[in-house]
Amino acid sequence: MNVLGIETSCDETSAAIVSCGPRVLSNIISSQADLHARYGGVVPEVASRMHVENMLPVISEAISAAGISRNDIDGIAVTNRPGLLGALLVGVSAAKAMGCILHVPVVTVHHLEGHIYSSFLTAPDLETQFPILVLIVSGGHTQIVRMDGHGEYTILGKTRDDAAGEAFDKGARLLGLPYPGGPNIARLAEEGNPEAIRFPRAVLGDNLEFSFSGVKTALRTFVINDNGATPRQDIAASYQASVVDSLVSRVRKACRDTGIKTVCVAGGVAANIRLKSELQRIATKDRLRIVVPASTLCTDNAAMIACAGYYRMQRGVRDDLNFDTYATETLGAQR
Ligand code: KG4
Ligand code: ZN
Repeated sequence: MNVLGIETSCDETSAAIVSCGPRVLSNIISSQADLHARYGGVVPEVASRMHVENMLPVISEAISAAGISRNDIDGIAVTNRPGLLGALLVGVSAAKAMGCILHVPVVTVHHLEGHIYSSFLTAPDLETQFPILVLIVSGGHTQIVRMDGHGEYTILGKTRDDAAGEAFDKGARLLGLPYPGGPNIARLAEEGNPEAIRFPRAVLGDNLEFSFSGVKTALRTFVINDNGATPRQDIAASYQASVVDSLVSRVRKACRDTGIKTVCVAGGVAANIRLKSELQRIATKDRLRIVVPASTLCTDNAAMIACAGYYRMQRGVRDDLNFDTYATETLGAQR
């Protein structure tokens, strides 16, 4: 079974072919990051227009890179929620049109469910390990989710304010680094001392919630008072350490509270090297299995959407072609 995945929820136009297994045959990603960098963040209208230009060439490239013809496509999976409405609409329109022409089923995928399934592309045996925990750390979301089976999600905790990716992006702006902030802070942090400044770690009581607005304010105050005295590398490394510590301590607590020993990490911030190494450190101490996908599968891509769609189709899920796009939607909510 070959599934065409389509992802256009933010600033990446992506199409991929995943075959059963699940195996990635192709994963084409056209990033608009350079275009949005000059505005300091994603401009929704610009993103939609670029998706319109890129969508069909990206789909054609995904099909030819997979070494198949379009008649070999057995189903289509497309992100329809949550995301920028105009951007989502481009991918959804392409998916519906191709579904009609090829007479194949089309299934909708929640963007965060897609991120979760990037771990299944990395470690397909995860489906024998339920229940598992997932740390979702993207630009717009930070959550710890318990997954009891395919499509069965319970949110155990989430952020009260900013998402982890947002904390990186806003922190980068305060340090004068360009968009997207996460990779730029991470790069600068490599040469810095993470213990140079003790930024706060939010402790919100006996729960699995996160908060990143405090550390962001602490960074702003530090930068204003410091007046350029401290090397930016040290500030970046210390700030990154605070964000990562908050994430890792909650993961550790979630494992202890639930007794679950397998943890997947999903979303763009999963590409962060310090997060990966700190999680590996607690994995060794607490005898946990941590699955972190390769960097290209952490940030937005259509292979993860095709993979989530593949499992939805396996469960017999089908969507009629009247489906809509949604700017916000909780993971696991029934539609
Ligand atoms: O999952 P994603 O590609 O898009 C959303 O669904 O939001 O995540 C993008 C976020 C951005 O905030 C970006 O700064 C962050 O992931 N990010 C990183 C790294 N790479 C991307 N944050 C920290 N370290 C990285 N290496
Ligand atoms: Zn994403």
